[in-house]
Amino acid sequence: MTFDPVASLAHRKRRHIDVCLTEPVDYQTVTTGFERYRLPYNALTQTDLEAIDLGTEFLGRRLRAPVLIGAMTGGAELSGIINRNLAAAAQQLGLGMMLGSQRVMIDDTAAGVSFDVREAAPDVLLIGNIGMAQLNRAAVPGLTGALGRVGADALAVHTNPLQEAMQHNGDTDFSGSLGRLREVIGEIGCPVMVKEVGHGFGAAAAAELAGFPIAAVDVAGAGGTSWARIEQYVRYGEVRYPALAEWGIPTAQALCEVHRALPAMPLVASGGIRTGMDAAKALAMGATVVAVARPLLAPAIESVAAVVDWLQDFLYELLVCLHGCGAADLAELRRHGVVEID
Ligand SMILES: Cc1cc2nc3c(=O)[nH]c(=O)nc-3n(C[C@H](O)[C@H](O)[C@H](O)COP(=O)(O)O)c2cc1C
Repeated sequence: MTFDPVASLAHRKRRHIDVCLTEPVDYQTVTTGFERYRLPYNALTQTDLEAIDLGTEFLGRRLRAPVLIGAMTGGAELSGIINRNLAAAAQQLGLGMMLGSQRVMIDDTAAGVSFDVREAAPDVLLIGNIGMAQLNRAAVPGLTGALGRVGADALAVHTNPLQEAMQHNGDTDFSGSLGRLREVIGEIGCPVMVKEVGHGFGAAAAAELAGFPIAAVDVAGAGGTSWARIEQYVRYGEVRYPALAEWGIPTAQALCEVHRALPAMPLVASGGIRTGMDAAKALAMGATVVAVARPLLAPAIESVAAVVDWLQDFLYELLVCLHGCGAADLAELRRHGVVEID
């Protein structure tokens, strides 16, 4: 039998989805750290819940609320349904959406069908995706073609050394990857952000990014979905290295460290953002927007309405958070900040 890399990649994407739906893939001991902060509650708020404005700008686009659907999938057949349902929900609610890795499109243009969401979401901020380990000069024409085909407004480059090290045949050589990113960033033709996949950007990584011509950083910290855990289930059918599955920079800490190192950088807080309260704390702590990935997977397999329901609950909680701390909009929420619980 001959090895078919495209079929193998599509199969792996499908295994990721299955493992995410059937195994305990969240961190088991590490939390995001947001439970260590409290939003200041104000019994004398002067806000009208109905009039609170969640609108914001991100990557040059207006969002009705500071929420992105996290990067998930593409390539496998089921991915097309997932992506279209997510995109239609983003369109209805005025949110942004990150696509999953488009590597499979570069290797096989037919796989692009599963990323075709523009029809369902003509107005959403749509962010394409590629791995740092796969990004080099030779990949640029295929990548820009893939971004053009899906109508992406921006590109997220994910860096995931721990995930790749856990993966069977993963890309484990990250040497020179930052230099290659710097070399090609100007040729991509749209704003570029960098993201982790749930193990977090911290102070050291942020220091590397100082002066880099990137448009945003998604800190994608620990406390939600653990990709080192998922890859072990896919590879061994069990978690063989539990310490590695629990390794990462908790999202709240990642957000603080990156914000301190890069105070002017637009930031996405993600990794274990599960409630409107998590989002409110992250936004008060300096995030521009938040992103949610795995909780939306099962609803996205079900229907557009299921995704919209999940997100509406989340957005309602976020609205009440602003109301209860006396913030009429996100700028005021940031001015109120959070209180650290000792
Ligand atoms: C099924 C699935 C597939 C994913 N695929 C990608 C991907 O292709 N590219 C990427 O940058 N991140 C990918 N991620 C990572 C998420 O974007 C996110 O960073 C991570 O899951 C942490 O967020 P969460 O705790 O809200 O799930 C994927 C996540 C899930 C659940």
